[in-house]
Amino acid sequence: MKALDEDLNKELEKLKSRGLYRTLRTVEGPTGRTVRIDGRDFLCFCSNNYLGLAGDARLIEAAREAAERYGCGSGASRLVSGTLEIHRELERRIASFKGKEAAILFPTGYMANVGAIPALAGEDDLVIVDRLDHASIIDGCRLSRARMLVYGHGDLEAMEKILEKRTGFRRRFIVTDSVFSMDGDTAPLAGIVDLAEKYGAHVMADEAHATGTIGDGGRGLARLLGVEDGVAVSMGTLSKAAGSVGGFIAGSRALIDCLRNRARSFIYTTAPAPPCCGAALKALDIIEEEPGLRDRLMRNAVLLREGLASLGYDTGSSNTQIVPIIAGGSERAVSLSLFLHGRGILVPAIRPPTVPAGTSRLRITPMATHTKEDIEELLSALEEARGAE
Ligand SMILES: Cc1ncc(COP(=O)(O)O)c(C=O)c1O
Repeated sequence: MKALDEDLNKELEKLKSRGLYRTLRTVEGPTGRTVRIDGRDFLCFCSNNYLGLAGDARLIEAAREAAERYGCGSGASRLVSGTLEIHRELERRIASFKGKEAAILFPTGYMANVGAIPALAGEDDLVIVDRLDHASIIDGCRLSRARMLVYGHGDLEAMEKILEKRTGFRRRFIVTDSVFSMDGDTAPLAGIVDLAEKYGAHVMADEAHATGTIGDGGRGLARLLGVEDGVAVSMGTLSKAAGSVGGFIAGSRALIDCLRNRARSFIYTTAPAPPCCGAALKALDIIEEEPGLRDRLMRNAVLLREGLASLGYDTGSSNTQIVPIIAGGSERAVSLSLFLHGRGILVPAIRPPTVPAGTSRLRITPMATHTKEDIEELLSALEEARGAE
C-alpha cells in the first residue's frame, strides 16, 4: 500500500513539474452565465450549457414531475426491469428530432461512443478516425479491436487514400466529431459522406456539440449540410446544449436493435435516471421551438471571435460556439487563465493530454444567456492580459 502511494506520489510530482496537474473546483449553486466559487461570483465562459437550459425553470419542473411519477432512479438495467415509459418516450422523441427510424439512450455521451463502436466494429473491420476526434471515440475504437487508422484533421485527401488502399475488411467506418470539442471547427461532413458512398464505407458522426446548437431545429451539422441520410450512425448527447445528461445513437431500426443487443455500456449499467430524461424531453421541445436561443448563442460567438481577432489572439479554425485561444505552451495558457480568474472570469486552461502538446489553450464557450456587456468584459480583460504578457 505504502509502496503504491510512494510510486503514485512520484508520478503526481512529475505532472506538477510539467504544469499538467489537475485539481477540481467546486461550484456553489447552479451553473449558468455566472457561477459562484468560494463565495465569489464569476462570469462563466467554460460551460457546455450553451443555451442556458441546465438551470431553466421549465426543465427543473419537468425533472420534478418525472421524479414524482417514476422515482429518482431506474433501479435496474434496461434489459432487466429498468426500461420505464419515460425512456421509450425519450427514445421516440430523439428519433423524430433526428429524423431517423429509431434511437437508443445511453447514460452519457461517453458511454454511447464506447458502447456503439465495439458493437458495430470488430477484429475484421476498419475504423478511420480524425486525429482530433474525442477521447470517447478513440476509446470506443480501442475497445472494438478493429484496425484503427488516423487521418490528419479534416483531411479528405488522406481519408480517400486510406479508403482506396485499405480494402479487404468486413466493414469500414469513418468516425468523426461533427463539431470538434476543443477547436470549435466543423468536420467536412458532406465530403466525408461522398467518400463513404464512393468507397462503400459507413459514416458515424458525433454531434455532441452540434445537438441543439446547429442546423434547422438544432438537429446538428448533418441537417445543416443536408446529408442526414449519409450518416448511418448519428450520435449525440443530452449533456450539453440540452442541459441534462445522457447520450444517444439515432439511426435505422436494424442499427438500434443491434445496439440494444450488443452495446455493453447499454446492457451492463443502470438505466438513466427519470428526472434527467424528463428534463431532456422538455429541452428538446425548447430547442425546436425557440430558434432565438441558437441565434443569440451564435451572435455571442461571432462577437467574441471578432473581438479576439482584433486583439491579435489566435482562435484557430473555430466557426462555432466553441472559441479557443491557442496559447501554445501550458504555462501561457495557465497564466492567461489565472489573469482572467483575477478579473472574476472563469475559463480554465486546457492542456495535454486533452489537446496535443504545444497547443494548450483557453477553450472559451459563450452561452445564449451572456449579454453583450459580458462578452465586452471578457474582451477587455483579455486586452489587459495581452498588455501584461
Ligand atoms: C465530441 C464529444 N463526444 C462525446 C462527449 C461525451 O459526452 P458526455 O459528456 O455526454 O459523456 C463529449 C463531451 O465530453 C464530446 O465533446
